Amino acid sequence: MKKNIQIAIDGPAGAGKSTIAKIVAETLGFTYIDTGAMYRAVTYKALKQNIHLDDETKLAEMLTVSTIDLKPSQQGQLVFLDGENVSAEIRSNEVTSSVSQVAAHARVRELLVAQQQKLAANGGVVMDGRDIATHVLKDAELKIFMSATVEERARRRFIDNEKRGIESSIEKLQEEIALRDKMDSEREASPLIQAEDALFLDTTDLSIDEAAQAILKLAKEKMA
Ligand code: CDP
Ligand code: CDP
Repeated sequence: MKKNIQIAIDGPAGAGKSTIAKIVAETLGFTYIDTGAMYRAVTYKALKQNIHLDDETKLAEMLTVSTIDLKPSQQGQLVFLDGENVSAEIRSNEVTSSVSQVAAHARVRELLVAQQQKLAANGGVVMDGRDIATHVLKDAELKIFMSATVEERARRRFIDNEKRGIESSIEKLQEEIALRDKMDSEREASPLIQAEDALFLDTTDLSIDEAAQAILKLAKEKMA
């Protein structure tokens, strides 16, 4: 029986990756690693320091002297940048609309991927992102490519924003999500793509619990 497997979950924005990955990790007693939060933290710092988002060298230099820590807490995963809790700041509209530009740089990715691989080295992890199955954890025992229609993903983000008291429109969110998906899928450096050995999970008509149960069933088969 192999207990400490690696579970990789990739897919476009709003597919349900982080919500479902968290439940799967909690149920199995695994660590959840949100790689998107790491790209968001780099973007937040670059915006704060007025670094041009096309300047790959400066971004990589900045990253080599930065520390990004992911810490589990009762309120979910917290993100610390150079010791400061930036969990809320990295979810701002400004960061969301800039992050794909930063994530397109190969050198930024190399540095973050090395950290992600270290975090997952002992297994017992659920990691979500865009290139987990294809690059970060190529040998993961379970690989899921999660998606849903862009309309449903925008609707979900609209509800999220309403709950957080952020004004938005479904049309705008759909545009923003479609643009980010396009940038993430068309970039040269490890684009968002379904790995050959990943299983496709369409969550459009699934509840959070149904999607989590589907992955847990597959994980338990791999662990048996
Ligand atoms: O939660 P949401 O789907 O909005 O995005 P996220 O997971 O926080 O990721 C934000 C952005 O980071 C993505 O749109 C990608 O540009 C980038 N990203 C990436 O390139 N590779 C990853 N493994 C994770 C995120
Ligand atoms: O991480 P990712 O961007 O893929 O998506 P998420 O942030 O986990 O999910 C976006 C929103 O959709 C969250 O509010 C989830 O609760 C919701 N969701 C849902 O309503 N039904 C699902 N089957 C999956 C997620």
